[in-house]
Amino acid sequence: MYLSRTRHYSKPMLSVDGVSYLFPGGKVILDDISFTVGHGEKVGLIGSVGCGKSTLLYLIKNFLTPSQGKISISGIEVNRSNKDKIRAMAGLVTQNPDDQLFSRSVYDAVAFEMIAAGKPKAEITQKVARALGFVHLTGSERRNPFKMSGGEKKKVALAASIVNDPLLLLLDEPTAGLDAGIRSELIELLDSMDKTMLIASHDLELIGQLTTHTVVLAGGYIIASGPTSEILSNHTLLLDQGLLG
Ligand SMILES: Nc1ncnc2c1ncn2[C@@H]1O[C@H](COP(=O)(O)OP(=O)(O)O)[C@@H](O)[C@H]1O
Ligand SMILES: [Mg+2]
Repeated sequence: MYLSRTRHYSKPMLSVDGVSYLFPGGKVILDDISFTVGHGEKVGLIGSVGCGKSTLLYLIKNFLTPSQGKISISGIEVNRSNKDKIRAMAGLVTQNPDDQLFSRSVYDAVAFEMIAAGKPKAEITQKVARALGFVHLTGSERRNPFKMSGGEKKKVALAASIVNDPLLLLLDEPTAGLDAGIRSELIELLDSMDKTMLIASHDLELIGQLTTHTVVLAGGYIIASGPTSEILSNHTLLLDQGLLG
């Protein structure tokens, strides 16, 4: 379930090429960022608070537009004219599930984009059931997301992000604020998915468990990028970025 669909590729799943982002007023948040994520690869994105991790995910999701540079998903350039298409290709699980869950029922929350797109009811119902089954919330369609625990909300947000089997899954601090049990359940779920992911997190254990490659951001730049095992054993680098202890 939720597997990558094809096995022969000429383009990376995600390409970020010379991307800079300035907030209105001129503050430079990202400066000439370039990296790629291959099909089926899980890549970590780490760096201290405020280094631009969330901003980068919003740029990829086409919620923000780069000031310079180019982002492509599976060879398709992300630009102002293809917002809907890109948003369907890239699922985003936001840091705070309340940002994503504004519906009165779990069904509506997970089905939101399909309802807006006018998909047939039978297809929606079947896809919602499948996504809820994947996050171990079978039968929760009629529950109110606002009355669920933080961990359950996170799982509903994940279900909403994967319900249409996006090519790429973007996760913003997926384990922030979760207790130990739900945290390991979530890590297992993500680990079981054969899907391309870019995971922004402070949780170095999660980065170590899930990702093969890690990009380190600081001061708007990529200051390190390499196999996760190498990045996580570079204690000087992690200490300098305030990522240890
Ligand atoms: N709307 C905004 N206007 C100006 N600066 C912002 C805005 N939102 C975030 N920032 C700044 O952008 C920088 C990057 O933020 P963010 O992408 O949230 O970092 P991270 O996710 O790594 O903690 C921070 O310095 C933050 O203060
Ligand atoms: Mg953030």
